[in-house]
Amino acid sequence: MTLGRSWSYTIALLASVAVVSCAQVDDPCKIKSRVVADDKYCDKYWECENGQAVQYDCPNGLVFAGKHRGVTEGCDYPWRSNYCEYPKVQINPPIGAEHCDWLYGIFGHETSCTRYWTCWNGTATEQLCIGGLLYNENAHSCDWPENVDGCQKHPLCNEDPNGNVPLGKSCNRYWQCQGGYPRLQRCPAMLVFDRRSLRCVVPPTDECEIITTTSPPQEEEENLKPGQHKRPTTEYPNGQPGSQRIRN
Ligand SMILES: *[C@@H]1O[C@H](CO)[C@@H](O)[C@H](O)[C@H]1NC(C)=O
Repeated sequence: MTLGRSWSYTIALLASVAVVSCAQVDDPCKIKSRVVADDKYCDKYWECENGQAVQYDCPNGLVFAGKHRGVTEGCDYPWRSNYCEYPKVQINPPIGAEHCDWLYGIFGHETSCTRYWTCWNGTATEQLCIGGLLYNENAHSCDWPENVDGCQKHPLCNEDPNGNVPLGKSCNRYWQCQGGYPRLQRCPAMLVFDRRSLRCVVPPTDECEIITTTSPPQEEEENLKPGQHKRPTTEYPNGQPGSQRIRN
């Protein structure tokens, strides 16, 4: 009984999908969602209003993703999916605002590899990459430094590009430099980080007794993440500091 019903439902569903794909996709009034993508421009779409197809633009910088999809008004960041595949193009030009190439989007910082901007209707909010990560303009997110061209190794690792560096007053966490890039590490259980030998050792050391299982205060880490330091002042593999981020 139940099986029969779900079967007929499935058949009905398949039939309706078939009808939609045969119907004229350009007319939003002929489909259930009442919204269709424009067939040429990925930042435009059509909505059925009072029996008429009306064309709309996505918010500036966004492209049509589908009804109830995307970040706002059925529109999404173009890089989040293949919304804008050839031969479709984004037709509306960018409307720039302070720190924003488009009114909506995620953009690199002008002077920092650890910061970036999220723009919403032209209002920019500064964001920070933490834990030694840097903003990757291709991925539009924070990423390991080795994946981010134009940004540098961290001065924390200047002394020894493959050495360990104490993390503030932490007894069990430390920075491990890997080819100049710092990675946050934690000593194995029951061991503490010794700032003299720069290794995890059996406690006690001068600074650390038996390790407790509770995490150290949050501030300690926040204050010492290399990602939050000023821009590195040494070794820019691609020439000028932050040159990748300079915009015309
Ligand atoms: C975007 O900002 C403009 C003016 O800055 C305002 O008129 C408009 O209502 C805003 N739009 C949204 C969707 O918030």
